[in-house]
Amino acid sequence: MASDSPITLTIRRPDDWHVHLRDGALLAGVVPHTARQFARAIVMPNLSPPMTDCAGVAAYRERIMAALPEGMDFTPLMTLYLTDATDPDEVARGFADGVFVAAKLYPAHATTGSAHGVTDVANIRAVLERMASIGMPLLVHGEVTDAHVDIFDREAVFIDRTLAPLVRELPELNVVFEHVTTQEAVQFVESAGANVAATITPQHLHINRNAMLVGGIRPHMYCLPVAKREVHRLALRQAATSGSGKFFLGTDSAPHAVGLKEAACGCAGIFNAPFALESYLAVFEEEGALDKFEAFASLNGPAFYGLPVNAGTVTLERGPVPVPEQIDANGTAIVPFHAGEELGWRLLG
Ligand code: DOR
Ligand code: ZN
Repeated sequence: MASDSPITLTIRRPDDWHVHLRDGALLAGVVPHTARQFARAIVMPNLSPPMTDCAGVAAYRERIMAALPEGMDFTPLMTLYLTDATDPDEVARGFADGVFVAAKLYPAHATTGSAHGVTDVANIRAVLERMASIGMPLLVHGEVTDAHVDIFDREAVFIDRTLAPLVRELPELNVVFEHVTTQEAVQFVESAGANVAATITPQHLHINRNAMLVGGIRPHMYCLPVAKREVHRLALRQAATSGSGKFFLGTDSAPHAVGLKEAACGCAGIFNAPFALESYLAVFEEEGALDKFEAFASLNGPAFYGLPVNAGTVTLERGPVPVPEQIDANGTAIVPFHAGEELGWRLLG
């Protein structure tokens, strides 16, 4: 460590622009982790059944608030799950009433909880046109589902087949390309207009596909989009730490019970919420970009969504942070990202 390296880092309170909080008992087990780290979070709607209308989203928001421990200051920002049958008027009504701030496009069968997703973006054209006209962001899980396309190519092919045409045809639509995992995605976002941004997860900054497959299968390193080659990880690190306003923090924290991960057909998803800031900060430090962390974590997201930055600050302090092998989330054992490792920054408070 250089002798002039800071001992503490204080930034505006950050937000998580992509998280899965789940429901029921698990919700109560995971929401405190996100609320401890972040002031606000964009909450994914891929529950079972998915959150496809205003009433369902509003009720889910109430359950989140009820699960939040007393005294925690946390605001869930809700999203609507798009299907082939989504009604543009329902979308506009919920956005105007503040029920949700964005809508999520899951290509049908792309990932966990996407069975009711969109089979062809042509089917939601009227919805997307309405969203463009009212300034409502579209959040995109960017993978094709075509069985003929290799899983490691699904994001890049999605850009060519779906996202690039969409952005060309609806230049007024604000689009967040969620959890980008490839050099192609970084280049696409960089070369697009100011209406296109991306979130980046901690795991895609830390691991490449070897982490999942070398020396045995590591189910806790498996998420979707799947981690790619090293060249892609390096492109993501460059983008996240570049200072560009187009990239911001979105953990994609996606908890699954240990038994559902360590299985013959394990679920996709990495639970990174408990040490998310510590995990991201390790990357920014390794890249010599501590001065860029606040923009990525706390400023770029609000700017894109047209929301104020948070009042108040958080401070991280250098020091060893051991990550437990498992976390008990209200009765469900979950293996967190970095399980058994030691991180080098601690979130105070
Ligand atoms: O790995 C993932 N897990 N990717 C997703 O897109 C969904 C998520 C989940 O809900 O478990
Ligand atoms: Zn997700």
